[in-house]
Amino acid sequence: MRIGILTGGGDCPGLNPAIRGAVCRATDYGDECVGLVCGWQGLLSCETEPLDLTRVDDIIDRGGTIIGTSRTNPFKDPALVQQTIANIAQLHLDALIAIGGDDTLGVAYKLAGMGVNIVGVPKTMDNDLSATDFTFGFDTAVSIALDAARRLKDTAMSHRRIIVLEVMGRHAGWVAAYTGIGSGADYTLIPEKTVDWDDIVAHLTTAYHRKKYAFVVVSEGVQVTRAEGENLDEFGHMLLQQRGVGPEVARIIEEKMGISTRSATIGHIQRGGSPTLFDRILGSRVGVKAVDMIHAGEYGKMAALRGTEIVAVPLAEAVGKPKVVSKEWMDLLEILAK
Ligand code: F6P
Repeated sequence: MRIGILTGGGDCPGLNPAIRGAVCRATDYGDECVGLVCGWQGLLSCETEPLDLTRVDDIIDRGGTIIGTSRTNPFKDPALVQQTIANIAQLHLDALIAIGGDDTLGVAYKLAGMGVNIVGVPKTMDNDLSATDFTFGFDTAVSIALDAARRLKDTAMSHRRIIVLEVMGRHAGWVAAYTGIGSGADYTLIPEKTVDWDDIVAHLTTAYHRKKYAFVVVSEGVQVTRAEGENLDEFGHMLLQQRGVGPEVARIIEEKMGISTRSATIGHIQRGGSPTLFDRILGSRVGVKAVDMIHAGEYGKMAALRGTEIVAVPLAEAVGKPKVVSKEWMDLLEILAK
């Protein structure tokens, strides 16, 4: 078979292990793999690159994606959808592997419904995709945030300050929640919970009096003040880096508490660098599974982590409904922030 592989949406560590996993497994079947350059854009422009064992040698520990990515959405225009389908035939592709988050897999789901032989591989550092327990990219992103947290707590302690760390996570607060718990933060703000300034000030006052410093984690998706006129990407998402949630939270804390407060935003640093072991293993496993799914004719599905198993689940279960931080996790955050 000739298999087209694409990576779409924001990059994250684990994409290269997934590409490598797919190419290694395809080699066992005698398949030929081609990379579609920069996500759906590569299919629209017919820009491809050969993916063989030589190309994927030595990429398991590299961040990013060797075939590039973009936030191109073919479904924003019906003509682009027709072009996408026509180009699959023109490129002689027997099947496609779409590696991405909700947006990319949403496109894959619609194409599968139109008869395209396509399987999905879930990725997102936000970990907000339904139907899979974890996505690769998340573990690495949180590990980077935890390293930043340790550094920020050191300097906060020295200066008797409060420091706010802003982390990514567009619709869901998983990165913030794990970073908050893993760093022993005194308060964690996530998009799933309405900001309660009385509660924040009460927690930070207690912590500051005990430790002479305090540490706060905030997700970029938290709505602190009304944000008007924000720019949207092709899938209609706000570009949150323009919002400046971390500095705003720090400014309000300083105003309310009268304690010197600083903020740091690590942004795209969370999206680069060598994947953690967890993300290398998960990426490799779902990449291998995607090719097995193609040979089993399991189109319209994605390779998901359920418990310790990688299983094929319908894309319909994954797309359009982000997995958000549950009440159980919010309670845990509350218990651990003293
Ligand atoms: O969806 C992944 C993500 O990293 C979000 O956490 C973040 O809001 C967004 O991508 C940033 O996108 P971009 O790379 O386009 O700035």
